[in-house]
Amino acid sequence: MNTLSTNQYIKPVTTIRNFEGNLAIGGCDLVSLADKYGTPLYVIDEATIRSICHDYKTAFEKYPKMRMMYASKALCTSAVTAILNEEGFGFDTVSAGEIYTVHNAGVDMGKVLFNGNNKSYDELSLALDFGVGRFSVDNFFELALLNEIASVKGKVADILLRITPGIECHTHEYIQTGHLDSKFGFDLTQVDEAIDLILNEYKNIKLHGLHAHIGSQIFETGIYPDEIEILAKEISRIDRKYGLKLDEINIGGGLGVKYTEEDVPPSTFEIGELIVNKLHDVIEKYNIPEPTVFIEPGRSVISTSGVTLYTVGSSKQVPHGTKYVAIDGGMADNPRPSMYQAKYCAEIANNKDLAKDEMVTLAGRFCESGDILIGNVVLPELAEGDVLCVYNTGAYNYSMASNYNRVQKPAMVLVRDSQSEVIVKRESLEDLVAHDIIPDRLKK
Ligand code: LLP
Repeated sequence: MNTLSTNQYIKPVTTIRNFEGNLAIGGCDLVSLADKYGTPLYVIDEATIRSICHDYKTAFEKYPKMRMMYASKALCTSAVTAILNEEGFGFDTVSAGEIYTVHNAGVDMGKVLFNGNNKSYDELSLALDFGVGRFSVDNFFELALLNEIASVKGKVADILLRITPGIECHTHEYIQTGHLDSKFGFDLTQVDEAIDLILNEYKNIKLHGLHAHIGSQIFETGIYPDEIEILAKEISRIDRKYGLKLDEINIGGGLGVKYTEEDVPPSTFEIGELIVNKLHDVIEKYNIPEPTVFIEPGRSVISTSGVTLYTVGSSKQVPHGTKYVAIDGGMADNPRPSMYQAKYCAEIANNKDLAKDEMVTLAGRFCESGDILIGNVVLPELAEGDVLCVYNTGAYNYSMASNYNRVQKPAMVLVRDSQSEVIVKRESLEDLVAHDIIPDRLKK
């Protein structure tokens, strides 16, 4: 299929230049948004989220037992959760905070999965109390702990076992997870020991299937069929050895997005077709019952919908060197360039003579030389007060944002049909000190 899917666009699907010559998203003029809400500002386009959800549903319509679980870690706010809930997605969560947020957004907790390599006693306990549908158990320690907590509560925890499939993908090493020496999951040689424990000792655990996740920002299509092959083979081996019919597999997330023109992520339709064909293949080959299949996309669901607006401030021309243009945000609202050397595209949002351009380095406002948002980018000559729009910031920006330099986290607005709504308030100076305590002896 040749149709592009939403993750293959750099910009939100509603992006235009309006009659005033300003950029607009979701029918909202970005310069007006910057004026009204201040900058830095995260802007999320609802139409783009709904568009990628539609792509995912179309991609997997030939496999009715496919369950889309949005990986909340990419961007977890109550409003975004509510939209994805309306779209019929379930949720992959990794902390009490994410579980609490999806609960707060009114999600049926049976559609929630709890992942993670070191879930605490309190988190497992809260997840059981909230009725989280599945636990993806990562290691022996967690298996014992979950059984103990469930037995105290008189409950049964429904689980998948997370395995390390031994597949390497070509992405940044920090976001690879499926290779054999990973911190996540059971090695395949440890699966039998886990199953023996579940069958013979852990009476408060019910095993439904297997889970794997290979990595993130993946462009290779072949790894999903490879992963399905490994999971299906393992399920059939377990059936032969234990007579245990596991009927769920979780293939994780990872589909990439297009941050820059050089990025060529596959479409949801292409991977959908590959995955569905492979599933039919392995069901026949291994003679296993048609499994319910979970997929946990995060970045590809939310990244393209988001942009960040900044205001241009100071600039500096190094004699015979770089021209730095500084914006009012940077590594605290988007740590990805400094953490992963991630690349982004930017465009000036206000009406400007687009013909006069120059090569600049966009510098953040934080006190670190590494705080460079985009190096060597050609943009129209920028001046103080210009509004800059950085694309594809929906995923892993706000969710990894910090208060470095004691700077308040930006607000987030949702745009749709020419309306804008604040979905995360900008932090205030009072918010920054709200958790501070001055011991009495130090009070003046
Ligand atoms: N499932 C599991 C078990 C995961 O660990 C992850 C991501 C996902 C699903 C979602 O993967 P996605 O579809 O978003 O690629 N902070 C990094 C990304 C870390 C991803 C961690 N796990 C970044 O900014 O690139």
